[in-house]
Amino acid sequence: MNNVRPESMARITTTELANAFIDEQVKEVREQVGDKKVLLALSGGVDSSVVAALLIKAIGKQLVCVHVNHGLMRKGESEAVIEVFRNQLDANLIYVDATDRFLGLLEGVSEPEKKRKIIGGEFIKVFDEEASKLEGISFLAQGTIYPDILESDGVKAHHNVGGLPEDMQFELVEPIKLLYKDEVRVVGKALGLPASMVDRQPFPGPGLGVRCLGAITRDRLHALREADAILREEFDLAGLNLKVWQYFIAVPDVKSVGVKNDKRYEGWPAIIRAVNTTDAMSATIDEIPYELLHKITARITAEVEGINRVLYDLTPKPVGTIEWE
Ligand code: XMP
Repeated sequence: MNNVRPESMARITTTELANAFIDEQVKEVREQVGDKKVLLALSGGVDSSVVAALLIKAIGKQLVCVHVNHGLMRKGESEAVIEVFRNQLDANLIYVDATDRFLGLLEGVSEPEKKRKIIGGEFIKVFDEEASKLEGISFLAQGTIYPDILESDGVKAHHNVGGLPEDMQFELVEPIKLLYKDEVRVVGKALGLPASMVDRQPFPGPGLGVRCLGAITRDRLHALREADAILREEFDLAGLNLKVWQYFIAVPDVKSVGVKNDKRYEGWPAIIRAVNTTDAMSATIDEIPYELLHKITARITAEVEGINRVLYDLTPKPVGTIEWE
């Protein structure tokens, strides 16, 4: 399979088309791989999850998935990867909790691009170490999709933390590289992946690392993760998860004075970002009902240690980028 999508290839919009694609890929992967082993970095994002599910169907335990938890995941996401892939799909999954390594390296680092470099570089190191412990791996699977190929001169290449070292001596297996994102989701559903995984929002490779603004500390990262979980829960309940393209919390390294239980309470602000876009190049701000904003504010300030204010970012892109860093 080369890197150009044939014009005759129909857009995969239905389960039938997805199943036909899956059958064809299962056959191709089996032919390519034979009885050899394949390694996959499974982040839990849509693309790597769909590749994992497809390869489990094609070659079962010949696939070895490695999930690196860099300590910057959203609440419950590493647990979800383990639940779906190890417990439900019976995958060969290696789980590496590298939280201390990443947070140790990031200590005191406040410059955003430096943070990204550290996270990306360390990710490769951890993955490499795990790979070198394994015997007989011949192939590396990747969740490359068609826009990655089309934009390979551009933004995503330097954005993607999942990027792996060039000198890795593996042949690539890239079963979804001719698919657009919407097709990947249809295929994922046909493979039986849960909607929560297939309809997941885009999540930057450096994860909460670029939302815990400035130098990351464990207490502020914890507050961010908890506040973000409340936001997601409330958006789910209100059905906004289906309407808003990307939403999250950012917590700056700034404290203000507040009052809680009749006492002075210094805390960080939690900033809500909720944007709509088609390509992430520009973005608009959704109208979130005030009632819901009040509810989220009340919950976050009551439930999250260290947060004493909640703000809503009304800035479209441009001028503001989607992420704060
Ligand atoms: P910005 O902030 O540039 O974001 O408006 C556009 C989209 O890209 C995502 N993003 C990243 N994705 N690594 C990634 O994999 C990154 O370092 C990164 N920075 C931003 C962002 O979440 C949004 O969807």
